[in-house]
Amino acid sequence: MADPTLQRLIEEVEPIVATGDTEQKVTAAIAERLTAWLAEGPAVDYDYRRPDGDKYVLYPLHVDPEGRFSIAAAVWNVGQSTPVHGHETWGVVGILSGVEHEVAYAKPRAEGVKLDPVAETKWSAGEVTVCCTTDDDVHWVSCGGPEPCVGIHIYGADIGTWSRRAYDREDGTVTWFTSGWSRWPPLSEVPLAASQPT
Ligand SMILES: [Fe+2]
Repeated sequence: MADPTLQRLIEEVEPIVATGDTEQKVTAAIAERLTAWLAEGPAVDYDYRRPDGDKYVLYPLHVDPEGRFSIAAAVWNVGQSTPVHGHETWGVVGILSGVEHEVAYAKPRAEGVKLDPVAETKWSAGEVTVCCTTDDDVHWVSCGGPEPCVGIHIYGADIGTWSRRAYDREDGTVTWFTSGWSRWPPLSEVPLAASQPT
């Protein structure tokens, strides 16, 4: 049996995704469920929220067998950040611990155009945001406080294997990339006896 706390979140997200509703409806419903889940103070195995000394990391908590969604723990150590990037799908982000600093950009309609920042926010533990829909999904994220930041990110695809865009913020140059997963298997496939929910 896998982590029952995580299993409950999976069982709440799966039927929302299965409705096939619009991205706006799906993300709003998931944001509500993720907010409630975080409010309960869930324990997540340390191996799946451990900061890395060299770069930010993306751990798989669950990857839907049909690839319809994934739940990730994204971890930034102090001083770490992502490139400016897109997701090419919907996404909901909630903060488990620390502070996530986000600068959102308007999605460029053409390549080679300087990116236009539209919002800058610091998200704290327990806060949840719809970070992305397919047509509005570009941001830069960094650790925004004096301790590592751990975010629970739910996306409308297997985000570790999903092809998506990174952007040069000055000249709009696009580089396609796949992030990969920083660990395997997903936490949902790890027997409870082998996990460490501390
Ligand atoms: Fe992102």
